[in-house]
Amino acid sequence: MSGQEDFTKRKLWGGRFTGATDPLMHQYNQSLSYDKRMYAADVKGSIAHSRGLEKAGILTQQERQEIERGLKQVENEWKEGTFKIFPDDEDIHTANERRLSEIIGKDIGGKLHTGRSRNDQVATDMRIWLMDEVENIRGYLKDLVLVMANRAEKEVDAIMPGYTHVQRAQPVRWSHLLLSHAHAFYADLNRLSQLIPRISTLPLGCAALAGNPYSIDREFLQQELGFDSLGENSMHIVPDRDFVIEFLQWSSLMMIHMSKMAEDFIIYSTAEFGFIQLSDAYSTGSSIMPQKKNPDSLELLRGKSGRVFGQMAGFMMSVKGTPSTYNKDLQEDKEPLFDCVDTVANSIRIAEGVIATLAINADKMRAALTDDMLATDLADYLVRKGVPFRETHHISGRAVALAEKQKCNLSDITFEQYRELSDKFEPDVIESVFNFENSVEKRDAIGGPSRKGIERQVQFLRAGVEKL
Ligand code: ARG
Repeated sequence: MSGQEDFTKRKLWGGRFTGATDPLMHQYNQSLSYDKRMYAADVKGSIAHSRGLEKAGILTQQERQEIERGLKQVENEWKEGTFKIFPDDEDIHTANERRLSEIIGKDIGGKLHTGRSRNDQVATDMRIWLMDEVENIRGYLKDLVLVMANRAEKEVDAIMPGYTHVQRAQPVRWSHLLLSHAHAFYADLNRLSQLIPRISTLPLGCAALAGNPYSIDREFLQQELGFDSLGENSMHIVPDRDFVIEFLQWSSLMMIHMSKMAEDFIIYSTAEFGFIQLSDAYSTGSSIMPQKKNPDSLELLRGKSGRVFGQMAGFMMSVKGTPSTYNKDLQEDKEPLFDCVDTVANSIRIAEGVIATLAINADKMRAALTDDMLATDLADYLVRKGVPFRETHHISGRAVALAEKQKCNLSDITFEQYRELSDKFEPDVIESVFNFENSVEKRDAIGGPSRKGIERQVQFLRAGVEKL
């Protein structure tokens, strides 16, 4: 018998195979190199399954205890880095089972897979694993939102231009801009929390596709694993990867928010704006231009949003043409999911660090404010004197044109000139309109940038994060 034939015979499913697996095929087919990170979830699922088997009378109490002891040793070996991977180990499920049988013997170890298939096993493991990761990510997101809220509260005095089309529009508080991004992440946190019940639906006990014939009590398995619900149709729940897709979609949207925020801050950190400065901890230098400080952290946040979207699109395409129940295409769920989990977790933590340590330059923000940004306030002034808004918009426009012609600021136009534009102008016009603080404070309806508005948002976000 050649070495290659040996190799195939040793595979757990090798019974009916006589030919050897092509070595490249083995490499192509294996997933252990990446799914080993689910080792703890696999052991957890197997322990629950062994208890279900005991309850169904397939295992004696003693056998189940032996299996649990063995599985805990397997888990420990992974943890300590002593688990020996064999060349013919295919995935985490076969590797763990192979090792279990080495530890406790084939006679008992060989009973564990009764009433189970790798199909319901892998789907269960993925869900267990993802739920833990989602918990971590939720924690990171909460920290990010809180750091933003704290900053907004502390720096409420800073007023800057608000932009539309990247053109100066109206004055806002810096805190208002910062919180606009925090609200997007807070919505992400809400959405992520809403995914949990759908991730927490259990496939275990459904075997390959057609359910188990041993009356394994699936409600008992659900309780053991602490899942929210049970998959109600074996052919649906075993190959169902909607929870993976939903997580990838969630990640794509969250990273869009990340990317948009990064873009804002990159612009504001240029010398031309100079509103913010990144800390050294999140910047890099240039290898050739000594004066440079580059916002690499923000550029990576922006760039990685493309990578995450690509993983989502890629996996959706992998799945779309698959026929019912398990097909090996589904193994392609792991690399995008793992990479995406790592990318979003790290991105959120990097964003938190960037925001916690950047410095703002309130003087530069203020210096960028110009009177023309109060042209709307000038119109609003006349509205309060009873002039219809459409007309006030016109009058204010003529004031802007006049200032342009005279090459002066709107506040340099004399009261007499204002009076020529409308007899509704009164001597208080210059003082009451051309004050950025007043302008912002007038916008005190819910959702606005006034001091009260910032306070309300900070409380809203803090209470919301606490609740979730
Ligand atoms: N490694 C496989 C996967 O991730 C496990 C399931 C294998 N099932 C099978 N019928 N070959 O999808």
